[in-house]
Amino acid sequence: MNMKICLMPGDGIGPEIMAQAVRVLETVAAKFGHAVQTETALIGGAAIDAMGIPLPEATVAACRASDAVLLGAVGGPKWDAMDPAIRPEKGLLGIRKALGLFANLRPAALFPELARASYLRPDIVSQGLDIMVVRELTGGAYFGEPRGETLVNGERAAFNTMIYSESEIERIVRVACEIAMKRGKRLCSVDKANVLDVSRLWREVAVRTAAEYPEVELSHMYVDNAAMQLIRDPSQFDVIVTENLFGDILSDEASIITGSIGMLPSASMGAGGPALFEPIHGSAPDIAGKDIANPLATILSVSMMLRFSFGLEAEAGAIDSAVKAVLARGYRTGDIHVGEGVKVGCSEMGQLVVDAL
Ligand code: IPM
Ligand code: MG
Repeated sequence: MNMKICLMPGDGIGPEIMAQAVRVLETVAAKFGHAVQTETALIGGAAIDAMGIPLPEATVAACRASDAVLLGAVGGPKWDAMDPAIRPEKGLLGIRKALGLFANLRPAALFPELARASYLRPDIVSQGLDIMVVRELTGGAYFGEPRGETLVNGERAAFNTMIYSESEIERIVRVACEIAMKRGKRLCSVDKANVLDVSRLWREVAVRTAAEYPEVELSHMYVDNAAMQLIRDPSQFDVIVTENLFGDILSDEASIITGSIGMLPSASMGAGGPALFEPIHGSAPDIAGKDIANPLATILSVSMMLRFSFGLEAEAGAIDSAVKAVLARGYRTGDIHVGEGVKVGCSEMGQLVVDAL
């Protein structure tokens, strides 16, 4: 197979983790006889520094011309004081919108090797933790209009609009149902229907859409309760589907209870065109350039890419197994090093995975 991949390292630890992920990609491609063609594009702060904007037109074109996109991370204190219209995060939101990536898949599963790193009590962890958060990614308060700042009774006031159309809700619930069918067939739709009009429509459409999947057992939960239940008893969840802002918050929570936000990949997909793969964690500016970041979330994002965008199951499995093997041998980056094991840096971890392949 010939794979055309657009790489967007971005900011902070982005370039370091990307370098290791690319080594792994090239190794697995060579091993299985595939050709990889990569192009690197600017996004976020790196694009602001080079061209004055977080998402240059050339980057969107490079993504569109590729089969899949791999992203590092964007943002950092250097650009925090910028005009909100050109902050690094605008680059990420812009590329999601430009590529129509409405479905964000964020698996939060516990690596048994890393059970000690979990923040939950051992008796809770031992119940199991394997959740897929399906987050709507191109709607809600992130993109809703009107938005902005105004004057109310002589003082500044700011506002955003959390808006969803029926078709937007329907297509994300459908994706979640399809995923649930391939897993435990349990789908929990998270909303705030006791307060928000937008959530009442969300729930109504979720019920109607999931009815097309009689095998999927649909339940509903208010977002505040869901935040609590994720800590109290995460084993009750199989697939969670929710809107953009709730999904942003709950996916961070779901990932950190596994103990290792540095381990978790994600996929963002649209109706057609290239999908985008990125680690769940951010740009971690405090540790950037020190070669101590955990590259495994990005490496596992490569595995998700091979599986979802190219249907290369054996190749993806080879990466997953290599990562597991390295963990089983006790190698840990600082973020997942709890008391035992051998502490390694970012490039060393990348090399270990390459060797295991
Ligand atoms: C995420 C991040 C982004 C988001 C930021 C960086 C814009 O937190 O991917 O979860 O809020 O979607
Ligand atoms: Mg987030």
